[in-house]
Amino acid sequence: MVAKKLNENTKWLVWYRISALASPGFSDTKFRAGNRYAPFFLFALGSMISQDTFGPRYQVLEVIGKGSYGTVFKALDNADGQLVAIKHIKGMFQGASTKAAADAQRVLREIKLLRLLRESQDVVQLKSIVAPEGREYHDIALVFELMEADLHEVIKLNSDLQPDHHRWFLFQMLRSLDYMHQANILHRDLKPQNILVNADCTLKICDLGLARTASAEDSSEFWTDYVATRWYRAPELCGSFSAAYTPQVDIWSIGCIFAEMLLRRPLFMGRDVVHQLQLITDVMGTPPPESIAKVHNPKARAFLASMPKKSGISLQRVLHKTEPAAVDLLRRMLAFDPDNRITAAEALRHPYFHSLCDMVANQAPPKISGQEFAYEKANLQVDDIRELMWLEVLEYHPQLQKAQEARSLLASCTSTHNLQFMQRKSSDASSSGSFSAHMRRGMTFYSDTGFSGDGEQCNAETDTSCTL
Ligand SMILES: Nc1ncnc2c1ncn2[C@@H]1O[C@H](COP(=O)(O)OP(=O)(O)O)[C@@H](O)[C@H]1O
Ligand SMILES: [Mg+2]
Repeated sequence: MVAKKLNENTKWLVWYRISALASPGFSDTKFRAGNRYAPFFLFALGSMISQDTFGPRYQVLEVIGKGSYGTVFKALDNADGQLVAIKHIKGMFQGASTKAAADAQRVLREIKLLRLLRESQDVVQLKSIVAPEGREYHDIALVFELMEADLHEVIKLNSDLQPDHHRWFLFQMLRSLDYMHQANILHRDLKPQNILVNADCTLKICDLGLARTASAEDSSEFWTDYVATRWYRAPELCGSFSAAYTPQVDIWSIGCIFAEMLLRRPLFMGRDVVHQLQLITDVMGTPPPESIAKVHNPKARAFLASMPKKSGISLQRVLHKTEPAAVDLLRRMLAFDPDNRITAAEALRHPYFHSLCDMVANQAPPKISGQEFAYEKANLQVDDIRELMWLEVLEYHPQLQKAQEARSLLASCTSTHNLQFMQRKSSDASSSGSFSAHMRRGMTFYSDTGFSGDGEQCNAETDTSCTL
């Protein structure tokens, strides 16, 4: 009720800004395309793709997003006339085998987590996966509900966001995070570009490419694949690519995003890890020795310990026009010590959200079976991951699944060798349409959007090496 009223009040404002900033010639797409990319880039990319890149069902309209791994297109789904966003990840299974396997693992994980989180109102919905024509595929196209902008654009384009916008956006981010954390899922790459927003102020988290499940049993496990964005990275992770993670790393990122909404610029824009820690301590003060001890990287710990004592500055002074409750919550989200940082569930009960207390979701989080990600412990080869991804594709194509089951049954009757996942190298996927033919054709059209897989392609603020 409160949100409905809020949405009614706020919709016009955001929509007005979006419309007002729409580039001529992009009337259908409001500000998105015209403002997100330099027009020449959009023109070049747009003119290089064909409308049927993803088969006859989807009509590609334009490029709306480009991240480190995928290019995102706006498309029309001819089956139901709805607009969708298609994230195209290319060349996943190509390249050096270890690196290709790690990159493909990342995509597989994202697809699985999106399936597991499909009941969440605050996570972008994966509607389908375009079925590859054959089992030797290299590209994948994920079909999402279409959202109108990402938070980076909204912050950039809306200089007059009101306190109610800030509150409602933060509330939805925390509600999404609470749901994920209850399911033991850590996002690990929260930044404004990975938060999607509609003109009615609905907000959803996207890009689960770096997300991981973290059950209590494996909390001591060290992950080595973390190459997230420095400006939003929790201080205990600065300089660390190998670390045990807690849900509190996401809370830090959300705190940084909230501050960015209020300031209309990133709060800690570190040039490198050392500069990042300097900026954090300038504002939050130098931490006590017991908090420094929780920083993973030994050089970062030594650096912090040798730092002259700083008392920090008053966040209320920096954000002088912001209501004290918002500043108090921000301070708790940006606690240097992860053990002192507020949790998502606690934050949702903070007085700042008093007016939204009836909007807390009572949704039970998904129960994720240990089996779901058991394969991660095995040293899988690229072909195995491709097969696992194929199983995920089947989740969205019941017809294909039935045909697959029939073939598997036949195979088990005729062969004494049971294959580990599914029968490989089957070229028969007749009900999947002509995706790979289209893909092959499409690839030559926009080959500059290749899968780099290193997470560094477009993030100037992403750490590429540990400088500490
Ligand atoms: N469902 C969607 N609707 C609208 N825009 C989207 C959608 N999904 C992604 N985008 C846009 O595309 C960009 C890249 O998508 P993302 O999933 O973050 O890919 P990557 O893993 O390559 O970073 C996002 O920052 C956002 O601007
Ligand atoms: Mg992204």
